[in-house]
Amino acid sequence: MSVSVLAQNLRGSEIIKIAGEINELKRRGENIANLTIGDFDSNIYPIPTALKQGIIEAYNDNQTNYPPADGLLSLRESVSKFLKDGYNLDYAASNEILISGGSRPLIYSIYMAVVNPGEKVVFPTPSWNNNHYCDLLSAESVMIETRPENNFMPTADEIRPHIKGAALLALCSPLNPTGTMFGKKDLEEICDLVIEENKNRAAGEKPLYLLYDQIYSQLTFGEHKHFDPVTLRPELKDYTIFVDGGSKCFAATGVRVGWGFGPAHVIDNMKAIVGHMGAWAPKAEQFAMAKFLQDESSVDTYLTELKGNVQASLNSLYQGFQQLKAEGFSVDSIEPMGAIYLTVKVDYFGKTTPDGKVLETATDINFYLIKNAGIAFVPFSAFGTGEDVAWFRASVGTITDADIRQTIPRIKEALSKLK
Ligand SMILES: Cc1ncc(COP(=O)(O)O)c(C=O)c1O
Repeated sequence: MSVSVLAQNLRGSEIIKIAGEINELKRRGENIANLTIGDFDSNIYPIPTALKQGIIEAYNDNQTNYPPADGLLSLRESVSKFLKDGYNLDYAASNEILISGGSRPLIYSIYMAVVNPGEKVVFPTPSWNNNHYCDLLSAESVMIETRPENNFMPTADEIRPHIKGAALLALCSPLNPTGTMFGKKDLEEICDLVIEENKNRAAGEKPLYLLYDQIYSQLTFGEHKHFDPVTLRPELKDYTIFVDGGSKCFAATGVRVGWGFGPAHVIDNMKAIVGHMGAWAPKAEQFAMAKFLQDESSVDTYLTELKGNVQASLNSLYQGFQQLKAEGFSVDSIEPMGAIYLTVKVDYFGKTTPDGKVLETATDINFYLIKNAGIAFVPFSAFGTGEDVAWFRASVGTITDADIRQTIPRIKEALSKLK
């Protein structure tokens, strides 16, 4: 045994495995629409010009030494104002906000700050990476299997039987991988469940905490409105830790500036954990983000354009799948509500390919489409569901709307060949 038990048991990212196969096919000259990675092509979606300019200026100004452990005060102040203006949330720059190198260190540090090894973490499937964080913490994963009729969002009734004694409930809206969101009533019911569970806990017992990942909350479409637990139930402020940041709403995944906010004592512990990992956001990027967030008109202009383009791509794919469904193909799609994802169904289990292979798993269907339709999705099995689930995530940040439209006839042709 050359490495730790934990290291041996860690599962690699399924998405990176699929990306490896795609890159190999691309090297051989195949044209693949890669809808796998939850990222942006920065030539299609560059970061805001003012943010880029601010980063360059900060480097020119030699802002290159260690940032403060909880982030630059100017950035915490900007985030505090951004939260007040955009969400009517009150979080103090002094001790309720933590800046980190993108939002991943926030998630990891929330898990580390509130979950002991062996304790229960409740989260829906499909969802993003909670299974891996449970593995890292040696926590017990309690996966709530969600249903397409609920847009793959968990309900209070589904969560209720599992909540007793849990350390953490991890929720996300808009959700990666589905691009769907909580409605007000559904989230309220879940909030009430958390409040009730905490009322039932003994004095001095560790409460049930709620991790609320709203990294896609600025990317919502049409009439779909983002809700958060603390606005709906202010008493949850003591138990809710938010994950947020600039990675997705400013197409700035490589800039690495995330912000978390929550009860001061949890934020303080997270600060120590992030500090030990050295997972701070680069100082120059923090300077620039602090300035950019204050520039309301640049933020609004950028978000309007980004959302318009992302929504157009998601709609093209959604409509394309609805058209195929109307023509009798065994496919479906769920209306895009937020984030950069569309949920699509390609239910061809048991069908035989022209070269005689039977499609037995979601991975088989995905690879059939990669090789025969030149389009790659991510099966929901990469987000914790079984391989017998025929639903997939399509991520549109690395492709143009025009390219997306071209994929529909290719999908149609490939599916027509299955017997
Ligand atoms: C739901 C969700 N939370 C957090 C993250 C991590 O974002 P960051 O790049 O800021 O670490 C992602 C990235 O894909 C995500 O989908």
